[in-house]
Amino acid sequence: MSRILITGSTDGLGRAAAETLSAQGHTVVVHSRDARRARVLQPLLDQGAELVVGDFTDRDAVRRIAGEVISFGRLDAVIHNAGVWRGPAVMPVNVIAPYLLTALLPDPRRLVYLSSGSHYDGRPRLTGVDWQGTSPGSYADSKLYVTALAAAVARLRPGVPSNAVDPGWVPTRMGGPHAPDDLELGHRTQEWLAVADDPEALTTGGYWYHRQLTEPHPAVHDEQFQDRLLDALAEETGTAL
Ligand SMILES: NC(=O)c1ccc[n+]([C@@H]2O[C@H](COP(=O)([O-])OP(=O)(O)OC[C@H]3O[C@@H](n4cnc5c(N)ncnc54)[C@H](OP(=O)(O)O)[C@@H]3O)[C@@H](O)[C@H]2O)c1
Repeated sequence: MSRILITGSTDGLGRAAAETLSAQGHTVVVHSRDARRARVLQPLLDQGAELVVGDFTDRDAVRRIAGEVISFGRLDAVIHNAGVWRGPAVMPVNVIAPYLLTALLPDPRRLVYLSSGSHYDGRPRLTGVDWQGTSPGSYADSKLYVTALAAAVARLRPGVPSNAVDPGWVPTRMGGPHAPDDLELGHRTQEWLAVADDPEALTTGGYWYHRQLTEPHPAVHDEQFQDRLLDALAEETGTAL
């Protein structure tokens, strides 16, 4: 059985993944932005889940969470799931937080990053990005960056499967009630990549949609773009990968 951190597990796909993995007997480390939102996680905590609390717009909170997760013991996988669709939190939550956790957590065995079909509309340029989130950020750009981050980690950490997942447009709070894709399929791929033993689940550097490898935006596998992205994130956060 594995210990898996799932960020943004108070709602939507993160909560569904935490519930599924916990029901399978894995130890899940659930994450909530604050104590009030953590109340919805009580049933999971009653089943033995561990909890970390912190708002991902606050870099110090992300760093503290990394320290707490390390103190819990060996981590087998991280599902970088927390995300926002619009507003100033887009870059801090969708990119800076997963980057910092990737840099600060010592080698979980598997890494999964929530991407989106919107990443195809992202612009592979890094000048003038408001990483601090003082103004509304581009969701499409943030998902292109986090998908390239997943591919860069796959290249730089051989032996640690690192993959990005498009869950489809599914009816969560973010997706809205009329989203056309299958909510169940929207979280199965992340769970499978985090814990399954079959060789396909140990692929690295993939971009997945419903357990099918798919071709991402060309910038994702552009090593120069990956390196420029990692340099920008290291300079911005003061923390190198
Ligand atoms: N739904 C879709 O159609 C769709 C499509 C493509 C990709 N995705 C991606 O899938 C992932 C999950 O999306 P979802 O649909 O499940 O969204 P959701 O239902 O809105 O859930 C988002 C989760 O992220 C957490 N979160 C947001 N801002 C946070 C912050 N500042 N600090 C800490 N936690 C924060 C939320 O916490 P609170 O509950 O406290 O707000 C919640 O637990 C995201 O990365 C999203 O971009 C979703």
